[in-house]
Amino acid sequence: MKIITTIAEARDCVRASRRDGKRIGLVPTMGALHAGHGALIERAVAECDFVVVSLFVNPTQFAPTEDLARYPRTFEQDKAYCEKLGADVIFAPAAGEMYPQEQITWVTVEKLTDKLCGASRPGHFRGVTTVCAKLFNITTPDVAYFGQKDAQQAVVIRRMIADLNLPLEIRVCPIVREPDGLAMSSRNRYLSPDERQRAVCLHHALEHSRQRAAEGCRDAATLISEMQAIIENARGRIDYINIVDTETLESIARIGQPCLVALAVHIGSTRLIDNCILDLK
Ligand code: PAJ
Repeated sequence: MKIITTIAEARDCVRASRRDGKRIGLVPTMGALHAGHGALIERAVAECDFVVVSLFVNPTQFAPTEDLARYPRTFEQDKAYCEKLGADVIFAPAAGEMYPQEQITWVTVEKLTDKLCGASRPGHFRGVTTVCAKLFNITTPDVAYFGQKDAQQAVVIRRMIADLNLPLEIRVCPIVREPDGLAMSSRNRYLSPDERQRAVCLHHALEHSRQRAAEGCRDAATLISEMQAIIENARGRIDYINIVDTETLESIARIGQPCLVALAVHIGSTRLIDNCILDLK
């Protein structure tokens, strides 16, 4: 496995693979890898001939008040993990390599980004779409792998690819969870032991919504208020809980078509997100 830190080297090595007729897979990450990332890498290795994992803590998707400086960086472990899973290349540029001068060109997806996480993290998705566009241009993947954990991110990137006719497909992989149901996240390591126990309330609230919908509850407001009670009982501070259309991300009042139940909750000072799809069929 090669470790590459410059854009020029990354371009050279994917160019060589493409010449050999290889199918190129890209797994974009911010590092601090866990089994959720691992599932994406495994799928990429199974479906592609040449797999690039990018490790880049992207400054433009963090607001000044957010955790950019303390975001976990575990390069040695990440390297061993990627190697074990069979990745071909780690692309780990420094911030100055990706942003050598003031970035004044941005990729912005409208509408889908002003809701859910976009409402509480203005500018976040502009940073995500811009860095993904850069990574796609540098590594020219045939397929890029994303996680359902960041459901809104996956919808936004899919739309960017469609609207800009980018020549790649995306695959969205299921959420990988801890044994008690907490969705794996690089930010889980911020949680104290007490917070870690309480953090499972996000999963419990989602499971409750799934069960109530299966029993016949169709009223989104009822489901949301019951989920709210579960979160508050665990002393979680709710950023949002919403039930939305899986493509437009618009709120829905009655559960009918498949819909996305999404929430963001602060447990202590750590903001966690999770979601599930309700499909009544
Ligand atoms: P990061 O949070 O490192 O996540 C990288 C990818 O792993 C994302 O597609 C995310 O949805 C997926 N992922 C994270 N936790 C997961 C879990 N428990 N189960 C399944 N997949 C999971 O998302 C980002 O980085 C950045 O925004 C990025 C796309 C790299 C752009 O900077």
